[in-house]
Amino acid sequence: MYKILFVCLGNICRSPLAEGVFKQYVSQKGLENNILCDSAGTAGYHIGSCPDTRSIQIARLYGIELDHFGRKLEPEDFNQFDVILAMDENNYKDILSLQKKSDGDAKVFMFRDFDPAGKGNVPDPYYGSMKDFDEVYQMCARTSENLLKYLLTLKH
Ligand code: 4NP
Repeated sequence: MYKILFVCLGNICRSPLAEGVFKQYVSQKGLENNILCDSAGTAGYHIGSCPDTRSIQIARLYGIELDHFGRKLEPEDFNQFDVILAMDENNYKDILSLQKKSDGDAKVFMFRDFDPAGKGNVPDPYYGSMKDFDEVYQMCARTSENLLKYLLTLKH
């Protein structure tokens, strides 16, 4: 089983959407029993919360039901997951500093390291519009193929 964790700040906008989009892609490839996807936030503002209604709406537009409840990234995640993906640079720094408190060897990358359209941040849409949420969806959708290819190269 390959295990992948998507991480943003609040775990209500970007990372639950990234999780849902990748889960849909993985199940379209018939690999849902081989890959476990989850998401978390570097902050604990929204523990136990459903995703932002705009993430839920955008996901539904593309046939995806988000079933995640907000949680905070924990040191144990570095033992549990093979790959941890940061949605932006601040998340990336926070993830690496938490990894120092853990003996887990999860590989940490920027999510858009796998984006065929180019590297960078997945901009936080929290104070934005539906267009910003749709942009996050598009980034997630076009990144799925490279991400799956990479995951399947990892040894188990
Ligand atoms: P996310 O967006 O990191 O993509 O889930 C945010 C959600 C909530 C907050 C910040 C960013 N907040 O400050 O509550």
